[in-house]
Amino acid sequence: MSAKKGIILSGMRPTGKLHLGNLFGALENWVKMQEVYDCFYCVVDWHALTTDYENPQTISENVREMVMDWISCGIDPQKAVVFKQSDVKEHAELHLLLSMLTPLSWLERVPTYKEQLHQIQGKNLFTYGFLGYPLLQAADILIYKANAVPVGEDQAPHIELTREIARRFNHLYQKKIFPEPETLLNIYKVVPGLDNRKMSKSYNNFIEISTPLEEIPAKIRMMITDPGRIKKSDPGNPDICSVFAFHRIFNQDRLGEVEESCKKGEIGCVQCKGTVSTCMQNFLEPVYQKRRELEKDPQLITDILHEGGKKARAVAQQTLEEVRQTMGLG
Ligand code: TRP
Ligand code: SF4
Repeated sequence: MSAKKGIILSGMRPTGKLHLGNLFGALENWVKMQEVYDCFYCVVDWHALTTDYENPQTISENVREMVMDWISCGIDPQKAVVFKQSDVKEHAELHLLLSMLTPLSWLERVPTYKEQLHQIQGKNLFTYGFLGYPLLQAADILIYKANAVPVGEDQAPHIELTREIARRFNHLYQKKIFPEPETLLNIYKVVPGLDNRKMSKSYNNFIEISTPLEEIPAKIRMMITDPGRIKKSDPGNPDICSVFAFHRIFNQDRLGEVEESCKKGEIGCVQCKGTVSTCMQNFLEPVYQKRRELEKDPQLITDILHEGGKKARAVAQQTLEEVRQTMGLG
């Protein structure tokens, strides 16, 4: 590949349509990084199975929905390798080989493991696959010899484990096969949900990236503003208002103006919401158009994943060849 700064891999579980929290929490970073690094962006459908093995019916549809969102938000398959994990079987082979040298205790002490084991209700996660979740993630990363992994803070322990595995491998076989990947914490914009909590799929308080533009104003109208404001002339406090948090994202140029007129009680919340709805619609218009194009022609996503899979496999196969040699399977 080209003379970029290094190799990046990141992945997302196929949860279906993404929302604005995903866009400003992660995806925006990915879009920027494709200019600077050689990027591999992977839909981790095997990871989805570690928790949803009882209900796999929606996984493949969710993969497509998510990739449509990636592309409509600016991920460019010419610049980044966009692919599906299960299309590159080498991840599974590396997972198996790494499992030979991974102490059980390393997996058991990963904080997400014990937390989720007890937190996630209605699913039996006392499985081999679920314990191995972070090791599969390490295989995803190491197979591309990634130098860095952009993730949210919750994933930092998984990248730490990946570094430990890389170190152990290189040390055991006295060969520097794997770089130790750096954690690049996503720079995120705070995206409140429609109910003042964090925007999240599990709170059902989200706006989807693919929301039809005409539905946006009604969603914004539902939002709670500064509860201390009863009349339009009451001075407001933008800092506690989620609508203002949206202004920060979508109306940066006129942020000062909005802040001032809210504080002085010069604009009403209805008007203020109207403005932010329009800004949001303008921002999402091109995203929406791109998504319609992709929806109209399902072959487009099929082709993107097909091509991405080919490119990813070419790299993965090389690494695996080295690993097999190193581990006495040559
Ligand atoms: N565990 C990650 C998450 O839940 C998803 C993931 C799988 C991933 N493989 C990865 C992230 C490799 C970064 C790199 O979000
Ligand atoms: Fe929030 Fe705008 Fe109302 Fe101020 S005027 S409280 S920023 S909606």
